[in-house]
Amino acid sequence: MTRPYGFDRGRLQRSELAVPATSERFFAKAAAGPADALFLDLEDAVAIERKDEARAMAVEAINGLDWGTKTLAVRVNGLDTPWGYKDIIALAESCPRLDLILLPKTGRAEDVYVVETLLSAIEQTTKRPHPMGIECLIETAAGLANVEAIAAASPSRLEALIFGVADFALSIGARDALTGAPNPLYQVLSTPDAGAERVRHWNDPFHFALARIATACRANGIRAIDGPFTNFGDPEGYIASAERAAALGFEGKWAIHPTQIDLANRVFSPQPEELAWAELVVTRMEEAKGRGAIAIDGKLIDIAHLKRARVVLEQRDRIAA
Ligand code: GLV
Ligand code: MG
Repeated sequence: MTRPYGFDRGRLQRSELAVPATSERFFAKAAAGPADALFLDLEDAVAIERKDEARAMAVEAINGLDWGTKTLAVRVNGLDTPWGYKDIIALAESCPRLDLILLPKTGRAEDVYVVETLLSAIEQTTKRPHPMGIECLIETAAGLANVEAIAAASPSRLEALIFGVADFALSIGARDALTGAPNPLYQVLSTPDAGAERVRHWNDPFHFALARIATACRANGIRAIDGPFTNFGDPEGYIASAERAAALGFEGKWAIHPTQIDLANRVFSPQPEELAWAELVVTRMEEAKGRGAIAIDGKLIDIAHLKRARVVLEQRDRIAA
């Protein structure tokens, strides 16, 4: 069963801040900060020797701090590790405030089924104010190969897929130096024309993965979120990376540093020119009642554009609410 086609936005997830569960000093600031969502990390930001301690710290922080209306997730360890199942059980049993389990290294639909089944069993014995959702990292060759099945795996709990470019590059054996940034190796050089300089064109090695994830998400009414951009001293590069994800249909991006939160919130909000366009389209189409297509400034506008305009205005209202 899949969700009906459309924009089931559910919650805002323009920015998702990563906070290691062992970094207690960042918790209060993260809880009060401007990120739409955040996750406490038990996985790759935590050393193996501190896995049990990190889990206990996450439980204490979730229950002890005021997280406001923020979407709160925990990235558990992978299902194939000695810690993943313990993380899920401890968090689901003890943290009624937790919104989402973030599952890393999701490789197949059955991984989602395992988490869903555990959550459903635990929710029968605990009193939660709301059921827990799931978001999954697509960051392995297997995960991308199975992404359509993964996106359809849990209509009741799965809310988002996230592209984890660091692990993905590792998994496919890519020669990739700076996580999230363009790769100068992935280029083509024009053939020499007499007297002309050869021109180098940069390509995007992750276009296929991003576009495939976005399409799988939209086909199942869930959110597509872009992952890390690790050079936090390069805001311009971050914005370019976020804009390219937005152009493909992604709704948000990780912030691995607090300075990236506002950048993500800005990129994934409707832009002033988009808002002006959307308002004009809605007004003109209402005036032209009964006509499916009109022209605005010499450009054809039909019902597809009207729908797009409404999506933009709904997103504006959701942000303002
Ligand atoms: C995130 O976990 C990544 O691997 O990029
Ligand atoms: Mg990863």
